[in-house]
Amino acid sequence: PAPGWTTITDVVVIGSGVAGLTVALNARKAGLRAMVVTKAVLDDGSTRWAQGGIAAALGEGDTPEQHLQDTLVAGAGLCDEEAVRTLVTEGPDAVRRLIEAGAEFDLDEDGEIVLTREGGHHRRRIAHAGGDATGAEIERALVAAIEADPGLELIEHALVLDLLTDADGHASGVTLHVMGEGQRDGVGAILARAVVLATGGMGQVFEATSNPAVSTGDGVALALRAGAEVTDLEFVQFHPTVLWLGPDAKGQQPLVSEAVRGEGAHLVDADGVRFMVGQHELAELAPRDIVAKGIVRRMHAKGTRHMYLDGRHFGAAMWEHRFPTILAACRANGIDPVTEPIPVAPAAHHASGGVRTDLHGRTTVPGLYACGEVACTGVHGANRLASNSLLEGLVFAERIAADLAALNAAGRLPARTVTTDAARAATPVPLLPAAARGEIQRLMSTGAGVIRSADSLAATAKGLAALADGADPSVETWEATNLHQVATALTTSAALREETRGCHWREDFPDRDDAHWQRHVVHPLAD
Ligand code: SIN
Repeated sequence: PAPGWTTITDVVVIGSGVAGLTVALNARKAGLRAMVVTKAVLDDGSTRWAQGGIAAALGEGDTPEQHLQDTLVAGAGLCDEEAVRTLVTEGPDAVRRLIEAGAEFDLDEDGEIVLTREGGHHRRRIAHAGGDATGAEIERALVAAIEADPGLELIEHALVLDLLTDADGHASGVTLHVMGEGQRDGVGAILARAVVLATGGMGQVFEATSNPAVSTGDGVALALRAGAEVTDLEFVQFHPTVLWLGPDAKGQQPLVSEAVRGEGAHLVDADGVRFMVGQHELAELAPRDIVAKGIVRRMHAKGTRHMYLDGRHFGAAMWEHRFPTILAACRANGIDPVTEPIPVAPAAHHASGGVRTDLHGRTTVPGLYACGEVACTGVHGANRLASNSLLEGLVFAERIAADLAALNAAGRLPARTVTTDAARAATPVPLLPAAARGEIQRLMSTGAGVIRSADSLAATAKGLAALADGADPSVETWEATNLHQVATALTTSAALREETRGCHWREDFPDRDDAHWQRHVVHPLAD
């Protein structure tokens, strides 16, 4: 649709989690004008739901090299080692800067950061805040910094639609659909010298997810439409332990952090058997894909819909002090972890893939950057190591801001004028009705979820292709359309990858196949 209004800035950042806010704050420090666009309100993304923490080699005896090794092992052969090295070496100082910016992590009596363990980590390496409310504290500190900068512009309730590019194919802004924001209501355009996607994940592609309702893959869908390279979509991580609320539970489900296992809770079946023992040297703390598969296998063997997480031995005081968020979520749903095991099952949690970037967060479209869950920097490979995602958002956001500052200083950021003449809107897509969202989720969970096969993926692809479009523009129809676009690309990638690796589990190709699949599926697909 043609923009009804236009505004202009230097850097437009789409998304307001740890990645987006960090880019915006650092771009401002570099003297650039910045505008943050967010679909709901400033703190409504995935960051504030993060529980376990942020991983970095901060503890005595730990080193970036050990963090690198654990990340590479979890990534099952598909990590970009240089990207991981960047993450783990810059990570500790990035966390220290976050603390200087006001984030308050849990400290011991000597004032040292308390570190916990999670799956795949061979050391205590996870810093946390408020016990199990790490993301909420990071978001609080960043939002406070944003609000303290009157020069930083913010547009809330704004769904990004498409990328604008100039005659040279350089990103020159975005179109967006804004609701209830006064002068900037309706469809508008922001012209900018650089565009940063920090839109988060796509968990809402599936029926049950730890992600909030806003995680509809908008950034990946925009990138697919804009022709930017998108990769590793088949590697969707299912968190092993999401509170099981019954067979009909849909949408965002309460997470039961891996840190609960890190502190010693056991995964058991209905008979109390610790079924992960003997499956991996780290048992319940094996990398996440292995634990999720272990749970699903046991569910199938026992004919049940969930397993249990038993942390009764923690006692009430530890639950209250260390895991207040999880305790409250369980009790709100009639389960008391102090006296009974928690019913848990895997649910969609994190997209390891996304918009392909280099080490500076640059995508394959000049002037378009991506960071956080929407991006594929290469650090996660086929399976993200727990608590590496807040760190990834932080480190690569800082790198994007540094790149923008350097380009600006060198006079290499293109100038923009307030006319839209130079900007060409991306091709409009036919929109799906809002009701398609539920059907997309059902199709994806049935055929492209934890366990996949050629037949199940073909049935999902067929169902997705059969969904009728032709709806009027609204946030709900755009979201359904984005979910559909992402789901279709994900299903195609999963069908192409005829092997089992990381969090991609093909029951018809149960083994890892390095001879053929030590490579990435990249959209747009080569002919
Ligand atoms: C958790 O707390 O288990 C989530 C950590 C993560 O996904 O990195």
